[in-house]
Amino acid sequence: MRLQTNFYNVFILIDNESQGGNDILFQKQIGLQLRRRDGRGEIVNSSCFQAEKFYNILKFIKLTRVMMDRWRRIREFIQKEMAGEQIAGTDHLERAYEWCQKVGRARGADMEILLTAALLHDIGVPIDRKRHYEAALPKARAFLGELGFKEDEIKKILHVIEAHSRYGGPDPQTLEAKILQDVDAIEYVGAVGLIRGIVRALHEGSFNGKVEETPRLIDDLIKRVEGNFYTEEAKRIVEKRITFLKAFSDRLKKELAGEE
Ligand SMILES: [Fe+2]
Ligand SMILES: [Fe+2]
Repeated sequence: MRLQTNFYNVFILIDNESQGGNDILFQKQIGLQLRRRDGRGEIVNSSCFQAEKFYNILKFIKLTRVMMDRWRRIREFIQKEMAGEQIAGTDHLERAYEWCQKVGRARGADMEILLTAALLHDIGVPIDRKRHYEAALPKARAFLGELGFKEDEIKKILHVIEAHSRYGGPDPQTLEAKILQDVDAIEYVGAVGLIRGIVRALHEGSFNGKVEETPRLIDDLIKRVEGNFYTEEAKRIVEKRITFLKAFSDRLKKELAGEE
């Protein structure tokens, strides 16, 4: 990242990686209106630069460095912790992160708390798959401390992690915990959910791999996401994905009955 100035403007150029939520946080920190120039937002332009804002700009750059370093370390950590994990691996964690970006922004969530929890929420799986929502907590607490999070932030992130499952752990008490629980359910259905569901069921031994058993497996996937959603956004996506699964199951049954 570097700072460029001309007579009227200061441009802060941030390297490629999308840093979810940071722009909003920076707006709060430096008291300037920051605008992203394009969808990927690599350039942030603070128009109408005033000299007295310069100190705040420098603070912004320092904060950006700290936060970019944090995201890099979190991703290195999950690569290591989730190595070899097929169902809740880093691909699932990154998709959860992207859904949290969309739903979280729409809902006005604390994006740093939400996105950090999204990337860490399944790190308990390699320790205890069934009760992974609580098995994750000591490891997550130690790592968040190493990253320099404050105690109140750590508590908020840990709650999002412990409450993310629909099948165990406490009920979500915060907006961020409600969003992650909803987002995690998106991953149970649709084409992604079907592939994950087959791998999971084969792994657990609840599916024998026979094609004629697949409609039953699909019914189980749909049952998994039954119940209430906290956000309309996730509910809408899950309904769309269930429609696909039902159509897929109908088509499969027809093919098994001999249809071309
Ligand atoms: Fe989970
Ligand atoms: Fe998950």
